[in-house]
Amino acid sequence: MSMPTIVQAGLHGLTKKRVVVPAAVLAAGAGLWPSGAFALPRPSWNPGPPWAPVDPKAAEMHMISNLFWIMLVLSAIIFIGVTGVLIYIIMRNSARPGDTEPPRQIYGSRPIEITWTAIPFVILVVAFGFTVKYIHDINTPPVGSHPLDVIARGHQWWWEFDYPTLNITTANEVHVPANVPLHFHVESADVIHSFWVPQLQRQVDANPGQDNAVFAEMDTPGIYGGDCYEYCGDAHAWMKFRMVVQPRAAFNAWAAHMKGPAVKPTSGLAAAGEKIFMSHTCVECHTIDMKGSKASGTAAPNLTHLASRWTIGAGAARMTLGDAMGWVHQPSHFKPGVLMPGYPLLSKHDTKALAAYLMSLK
Ligand code: CUA
Repeated sequence: MSMPTIVQAGLHGLTKKRVVVPAAVLAAGAGLWPSGAFALPRPSWNPGPPWAPVDPKAAEMHMISNLFWIMLVLSAIIFIGVTGVLIYIIMRNSARPGDTEPPRQIYGSRPIEITWTAIPFVILVVAFGFTVKYIHDINTPPVGSHPLDVIARGHQWWWEFDYPTLNITTANEVHVPANVPLHFHVESADVIHSFWVPQLQRQVDANPGQDNAVFAEMDTPGIYGGDCYEYCGDAHAWMKFRMVVQPRAAFNAWAAHMKGPAVKPTSGLAAAGEKIFMSHTCVECHTIDMKGSKASGTAAPNLTHLASRWTIGAGAARMTLGDAMGWVHQPSHFKPGVLMPGYPLLSKHDTKALAAYLMSLK
């Protein structure tokens, strides 16, 4: 096969694949997901730029990104070196018109054997040394620091965030103070998940019955995307969360608000909605911290300050009255596979009242 024919065959194969694969995926998807699930307006979720891991916002991520650059430069030197020598040798030793003898052949040269064993050995020792140093450094909290403990517990399919020292439990949105050492305890309530905020630290598996430590100190206030990075079942893709890094005073204000109880609505739709919430199975799975509250379930997100959060359903629906109504009616419409049952038998009025109550939980 001549060169152009091979290239053409390759291109032909590619175009064929590009057309066939998405069509097959779409065809499979059409059967698996309720229609409309793809076209829903979704909350905006900013996972950070594609280069987020090399745009670190925490001291530990700076180390990981340094290691990346060191490895990249090392690899570039090797690539350029090897390619350069190869091109030089090809050009120098190519047969020329009029050559009668082949180039000089070298067999069993001890200096050459030693050189091309020693150079890779030294390169690997350097790479190994940097890797071990950085692995050690990112997993060691600064001596004498008193990190803020945050438990990040993966559930199918949402994240629970507990602050044991602050007595706060929330979900799908983790607030942390800037320039304060953090100690995340990554756990799981069911299957293996993976906790990752690309600009915070490395990915860490969330294993049932295990407390995996992540140390980090965020240096720039802002909002950073996080997600589950280990396939964990149907709604794995809707296990997003965001990390809000705040100056100390703003974080303290947030924490004080989160510690407070839910405000009981006294009139209007929201008050009617509260009665519906408290008399249905909602209370079996969700908690609403409030004097005399019947809702103390822990299987699903704590809703005490739900409406202060960014989304419903770990990124699946927007925090709006309309989406809350749709969610209560049929959550699987937004999040196929979600474990929460819908309440399609509630009247439209009751659904709206329930949603109004949820939206009042600021
Ligand atoms: Cu949890 Cu993927």
